[in-house]
Amino acid sequence: MKILGIDIGGSGIKGAIVDTERGEFVSDRLRIETPQPAKPPVVADVVARIASHFDWQAAIGCTFPAVVQHGVTLTAANVDDEWIGTDAKALMERQTGNPVIVLNDADAAGIAEMKFGAGRERRGLVVILTLGTGVGSSLFMNGQLVPNTEFGHLIIRGKDAEWRTSDRARQEKDYSWKAWGKRLSEHLQYMETLITPDLFIIGGGVSKKYEKFFPHIRCDTQIVPAQLRNRAGIVGAAIAAADLK
Ligand code: BGC
Repeated sequence: MKILGIDIGGSGIKGAIVDTERGEFVSDRLRIETPQPAKPPVVADVVARIASHFDWQAAIGCTFPAVVQHGVTLTAANVDDEWIGTDAKALMERQTGNPVIVLNDADAAGIAEMKFGAGRERRGLVVILTLGTGVGSSLFMNGQLVPNTEFGHLIIRGKDAEWRTSDRARQEKDYSWKAWGKRLSEHLQYMETLITPDLFIIGGGVSKKYEKFFPHIRCDTQIVPAQLRNRAGIVGAAIAAADLK
C-alpha cells in the first residue's frame, strides 16, 4: 500500500509517499522549515501543503514530538505549549480533508525499525531510543508497541535524562564521546533496572556515528544502531496509517 508519511520536527516538517510493504519511499522527500513559533494552526498548514504537493487524497500518517493519546497531543517538551491538549488529529483532518493518524515520533521510528530495520523479527522486550534535540523512546513486546513510554524524561542524578543524553546536550555541552557515552550508559542501566529489556536500538541522526560512542557504553543488554536513519519517522507514520485505509 502507498501512504503519505509526514514527520513533524522542531526544525523541519518532512513528507514522502511510502510503500508500506517494502518500507521505501516511492516519491521525492519534501522538507519545509517548521514555522516559528510552531503553533498548531501554522504547523497544520504546512502538513496540508505537503499533502497538496503530493496531490494526496487518502490516509496520512503524521508524527509529533510529544505524547499523543487518541490523536490529542498531551505534552510539549520541545514544542510550543499551545499543543498541550490540542486535538491534533482533528486539526490535521480539517486542514487536509483526509483521514490522519497522529503518533509520537519515537513510536513511529520504532514501528519502522521493528518492521524493516534493526528490530526485524526480534521478539521479547525491545526499546528504541532516538537521540536528537530530545530523547524519544518506544517499547515493543513481541513486536507489539506500548505507546508513549517517554523514557527520555526519566530522572537521573536529579535531572531530566534528556538534558544529559540528547544529541543536543552532547553538542551544547561539548561532551566528548566518552563523557557522553558515560551519561548514556547511566540512562540505559536505569532502564535495565526498571524493565530488563532484551535489546536496545539507538536511533536519531547521531546513530550514524555509533562507532564513536558504542565503545564507551556499559550495559548488560545487547545494543545495536538503528538502520532506517532519517527515513524511520516517515516510514513508521505511514505504516501506522495503513490501517486507516
Ligand atoms: C518528547 C518525546 C519525543 C522526543 C523526541 C521528547 O522531549 O517528550 O515525546 O518523542 O522528545 O522528539
